[in-house]
Amino acid sequence: MFVTVSLLLVILCVQGGHGEGREEAQRPGHVSVVIVGATGDLAKKYLWKGFFQLYVNQVSRGNTFSFYGGGQSPADKATPLFFEILKAVSCPKDVSQERCALLKEQFLRLSQYRQLKTLEHYQDLAKRIEKHHQDEGMTEAGRLFYLSVPAFAYADIADKINNSCRPTGGAWLRVVLEKPFGHDFASAQVLASQLESSLREQEMYRIDHYLGKQVIAKILPFRIENKKFLDPIWNRHHIERVEIVLKETLDVKGRIPFYDQYGVIRDVIQNHLTEVMMLLTMRLPLNLSSSEEVARNKLRILSSVLPLVKTQAVIGQYRAYKSEVQQELNKTKGHISLTPTFAAVLAHIDEAQYEGVPVLFISGKMLDERVGYARILFRNDVFCLQSHDSVHCKPKQIVFHFGHGSLRYPAILVSKNLFKPVSTDGEWKEVTEHSDVNVLGLPVSDYYVQTPTEQREAYEELIPHIFAGHKNSFISTENLLASWALWTPLLNSLDSSFPLIYPGGADNGDLLDVRLTGKDISYSSEVVIISPDQMGGASANGFQVIQGKFRNAEMVSAWAEELLEQLAADVQEAAEAALRESGVFHLALSGGSTPLALFHRLALHHFSFPWRDTHVWMVDERCVPLTEPESNFNALHNHLLQHVRIPYFNIHPMPVQLNHRLCVEEDRGAQLYEKELGKLVNGSSFHFVLLGAGYDGHTASLFPGAEVGELGESLVALTESPAKPHQRMSLTFSAINRAHRVALLVMGKGKHELITQLSRVQDNQGKWPVTGVKPAPGRLVWYIDYDALLG
Ligand code: BG6
Repeated sequence: MFVTVSLLLVILCVQGGHGEGREEAQRPGHVSVVIVGATGDLAKKYLWKGFFQLYVNQVSRGNTFSFYGGGQSPADKATPLFFEILKAVSCPKDVSQERCALLKEQFLRLSQYRQLKTLEHYQDLAKRIEKHHQDEGMTEAGRLFYLSVPAFAYADIADKINNSCRPTGGAWLRVVLEKPFGHDFASAQVLASQLESSLREQEMYRIDHYLGKQVIAKILPFRIENKKFLDPIWNRHHIERVEIVLKETLDVKGRIPFYDQYGVIRDVIQNHLTEVMMLLTMRLPLNLSSSEEVARNKLRILSSVLPLVKTQAVIGQYRAYKSEVQQELNKTKGHISLTPTFAAVLAHIDEAQYEGVPVLFISGKMLDERVGYARILFRNDVFCLQSHDSVHCKPKQIVFHFGHGSLRYPAILVSKNLFKPVSTDGEWKEVTEHSDVNVLGLPVSDYYVQTPTEQREAYEELIPHIFAGHKNSFISTENLLASWALWTPLLNSLDSSFPLIYPGGADNGDLLDVRLTGKDISYSSEVVIISPDQMGGASANGFQVIQGKFRNAEMVSAWAEELLEQLAADVQEAAEAALRESGVFHLALSGGSTPLALFHRLALHHFSFPWRDTHVWMVDERCVPLTEPESNFNALHNHLLQHVRIPYFNIHPMPVQLNHRLCVEEDRGAQLYEKELGKLVNGSSFHFVLLGAGYDGHTASLFPGAEVGELGESLVALTESPAKPHQRMSLTFSAINRAHRVALLVMGKGKHELITQLSRVQDNQGKWPVTGVKPAPGRLVWYIDYDALLG
């Protein structure tokens, strides 16, 4: 059944010509396509159809092809099924029946099933390919391996390909991979490094089929074509909200062993919807064909998404899921799964262009309709007194409608009160005849509507890109890891959260509606009742927070998030009290990683914090330039200061760099800081000092064994750390202990040992510097999370 059809090398391939794969794609010759997992669902449904289309389009353009279907089963068993699948592949619409029948026959003759299980099988395949080239006297153009197999098999197959199937003589190798690419940041990193040991970055094509959806692939070209209309409005002054939504009606029956490990955030939000978010918000590339520039701009915007915390997500699970899990995973009746089948996540982007614009991700199974879209809702600055139906009173929005829904076809819709979009793309047309449907609150006739002239499946779009070596539509390792870096902390924080159970379909009613409050999201149906006794504690959250004593001082303890909330509320309370008393609040903040979460909390949740009247001082600093990532001020700037409205002259970094050198005694930086302190802070007594405690018992930059007691009355001093960078500048005990209030924040399991030791030892400033923190009674409060307290 395997006969070569030689084809004339007539013209150079006109596809391709994009980015890094250009030369590879344009070199004509023989291409071997190998689908590993050739009789699986994906291959059956999309891949063979896509490769047949590729063949039809390329057959007269200078390349010849062989197609190999690979699988675990022996050839005699799998071959009949394999050919059944190939025969059932449909023809492209624009090809006549006769031509299609002829091409199909050729396609079948060029195809062969092979068992691909062991290294020998791959070696045999390589020999087969090479012999074929020799017999036919053909030059090789390249080898394309499509791994349509579970992800756990990737590393092993990539290794076998690397060891036995690499082409020689300048021909290309491309290996296509399907998600999941890991389960979280750490596993994605492991998989990435395993693959990197066998394949080069340019050889890997990680598929996200959403990038092959016509409307999604059109987002960047649309933004470029309509730049003159969009530039003035594509920003925080005009955009009210961005919504990226994928609603599905189906359940996950039959996929539970996979799905229960993943859930909706990993399954579609971390990948498909995040890709859409990047395309909508990334800086436009100067050269759309440059995959490097596109990947760079994507990475930049992805890295600007502010860290996601638990209060920025709600999750749900359809009611029948529990019993489906019990059945498919063979669990007892009592078994419950916390895997979410619905999630809504509220994100924000830390770029001036989008500051404050809510970006909402929503997806779920068993919802009322199947539809995918991204909507940019603009503010309407017109106030309509009477004619609310007139066009300028209606919502202003652009909808990238991926498909399905009431509209039923993929389209880009621009509400008529915005602008009439241009399209220079012959593959898109304007729709002028409208059916009587509504799209997101507007009749379709209120939009300018563009749709592809011919609808194509995502795989039909992506396969030609792989063949052309055009990497824009694929996920680079760097971007994949950045996406996991964004989503993993949220996934971890939701790990033991209970999803809201919803009935499924139309019965969900308004149960899954969400409310955006500041940076938080909640189900709008959730009623929060705070009983009077709960209000009796230190705060409305008093019941989640315990208060006690630690080393004879006050202690507040709770799970990390509640603890930080409590501390942030206490800092704000202290600020307000100081303002009432003296019109100004002096706050000294420590470096290190523990306070960063507090900084986020203050920046993102405490909008009424009186920053305008707050002076921010440093507890300690590393002797490095302030622009270095190691600098405490740098972290403070990135995590807090740049997000709040604080006057520049209220910010007091430590002068570690003077006369072009770092922390030299005779430059008198410490004395300079002390002087500034004396000038601005009444009695040099800060209103609030935030400290941490290191594993070795250090606090501020006062380390064990250092002669910290000998600093006398100095308030600021140069000190030495055992860890790099060694030189530090720090407030001394004299400065700390005269503060009105000192908070000692200790968090994480890693600090449990320290807390246990500190609970036993006597004061010993030399050995345990943190025990030297002794402001007047009642002024010190330890904030210790349960992980540090209980281990
Ligand atoms: C897949 C997910 O990646 O995307 C599925 O694993 C989801 O759970 C599907 O149903 C959605 O894709 P589409 O093209 O049907 O919108």
